[in-house]
Amino acid sequence: MRHFLTLADAGPAALRRILDCAHALKAARAGRPKGAADDGARLAGRVLAAIFERPSTRTRLSFDIAMRQLGGGTITLAAGDLQLGRGETIHDTARVMSRMVDAVVIRARAHADLEAFAAAADVPVINGLTERAHPCQAVADLMTVEERLGRPVAGTRWAWLGDGNNVARSLIEAAGLMGFALRVATPPAYAPDAGVVAAARARGAAVETMDDPLRAVAGADVVATDTWVSMGDEDAAARRRAMEPFQVNPMLMAAARPGAIFLHCLPAHRGEEVTDSVIDGPQSAVWDEAENRVHAQKAILLWLFGHLGD
Ligand code: CP
Ligand code: NVA
Repeated sequence: MRHFLTLADAGPAALRRILDCAHALKAARAGRPKGAADDGARLAGRVLAAIFERPSTRTRLSFDIAMRQLGGGTITLAAGDLQLGRGETIHDTARVMSRMVDAVVIRARAHADLEAFAAAADVPVINGLTERAHPCQAVADLMTVEERLGRPVAGTRWAWLGDGNNVARSLIEAAGLMGFALRVATPPAYAPDAGVVAAARARGAAVETMDDPLRAVAGADVVATDTWVSMGDEDAAARRRAMEPFQVNPMLMAAARPGAIFLHCLPAHRGEEVTDSVIDGPQSAVWDEAENRVHAQKAILLWLFGHLGD
């Protein structure tokens, strides 16, 4: 039985299959109404439970639409509505849910809780974002880059600016698994986890960390950022002060490769980590990136249910 808690749960070969599947699924349903099922409806009869301990727009909607397009259904639950909030254990909740649904996606406050749920579950468990990782977002990002640049992600050059957070960590992991170069520029206090960087380097990826945003974007095909204050972060004022030089603005985009694309997982804080002119400009791929959450997650679900081979 498979889980998708981090990208490493898939590994490079399965990730490649997931990406190829996501591209094919998107192409195959061009022009169809968004809620119409795909030909073959490969997850007909399957039900996904989606548990949210924190707010979500994209993850919530895209999993629901993904399951509809695959012919299945979704039950979305706010964690506070479950008996979990009244002391029922994660273990017991996971065992009960495993008897009623076919897979579970969880946006958890603590990655350790997600791992505990997965350890007790008899059905696939998906990470819908924790403080440590956002693997579903990373798959959509890889897909978007391949789509916009028209070539495989391997060998491309990425720059990440701002906070070395959960989204950055999954992209660092992706660099190791898929073989692209990544420069991560953050204030030293908000640098990404050294263990995640070391693991990507051990796989041969050129991952560099630095505090110079201009150096990070030089020659980059992709410039990516995220909010400076993630859900659960408490030092908001200090973060905004420290990250101000890392704002993605026209000057920084001009220092990247001509034709470089801009990524942001959203929600964006316009005027903080990115200017309106960049996020609304021709280099921005953020709306494709958001849509691609649907296609990427469909491919992840098909992989979890054994439809993409070993
Ligand atoms: N990018 C992303 O995961 O967005 P939501 O928080 O809206 O799900
Ligand atoms: N880093 C952000 C991502 C939101 C999708 C957060 O954790 O709040």
